[in-house]
Amino acid sequence: MSEPEIVVLADADACAATAANRIAAVLVEAVNLRGTAHWATTGGSTPGAIYRRLAVSPLRDEIPWDRVHLWWGDDRFVPFDHPLSNVGIAEADLLDMAATSGTSGTGASAIDVLVGRSPGAPIPAQNVHPFPIPQAIANGQGPEWAAERYVAMLRADGPPTEGGWPVFDLVLLGIGPDGHLFSVFPGSEAFDRDVIAMGIPAPTHVEPHVPRVTLNPRVLDTARRVLVVSHGQGKAAVLADILGSEPDVRRLPAQLARRGGATWILDEAAAAQLQR
Ligand code: 6PG
Repeated sequence: MSEPEIVVLADADACAATAANRIAAVLVEAVNLRGTAHWATTGGSTPGAIYRRLAVSPLRDEIPWDRVHLWWGDDRFVPFDHPLSNVGIAEADLLDMAATSGTSGTGASAIDVLVGRSPGAPIPAQNVHPFPIPQAIANGQGPEWAAERYVAMLRADGPPTEGGWPVFDLVLLGIGPDGHLFSVFPGSEAFDRDVIAMGIPAPTHVEPHVPRVTLNPRVLDTARRVLVVSHGQGKAAVLADILGSEPDVRRLPAQLARRGGATWILDEAAAAQLQR
């Protein structure tokens, strides 16, 4: 396999700053080249600090947000206002909710200014595409139902496809402590399925123990750019295994992001056990 670019920085803060700059550059380039940018984002503890940089000047003002489509690589099967929701993180730290809910124009409200909150990224409501988990819950349906509808949403408003698989301009990823990406865990049934998105039962070996919806990891083959961000010494051993051992993606799904065109941004603590 051709290998990714690996960038090692001092700490989590430096990782977030560099990741935000890279994301901005990819989104701007995609819009310049193709008119739109399709970004599949992530959850976990990594994206919040990245979002907070994208949501303020100068990056906020450099990105043509009205041409950006925001998708999710995976989510937990909980309402968006639940602390575990991957959408909730974006609502809190990235999105200008006035623009996203279509209630007013962009820019900070008087309350935003008073509490020092950033106005956020003005992505129009119709360009924000979470897994329809609240609708599934309201209809008494489960993760597979939400996944099926997500596939229909991708067909209607998603990026162009290659061999039937969506070609995202950017997929942002974190790495789980067991070497998972998206909600594709070691030994996942996702490897045996041809659907673009699917429901995943609650994992018992890693937290949180809630059912998930996830994209098929095969979208990583067609994505134009893949950006992995991981930090902290708790990830050092698994990252050394992912980046150093013979490829075996069913054992370590995160090796799917070990490809050319991918960039891994790690802090010194997370990179401590890499062979360099
Ligand atoms: C999930 C997340 C997951 C996350 C990793 C990394 O729903 O479980 O999407 O894949 O990205 O666990 O988490 P950190 O960002 O906390 O390192």
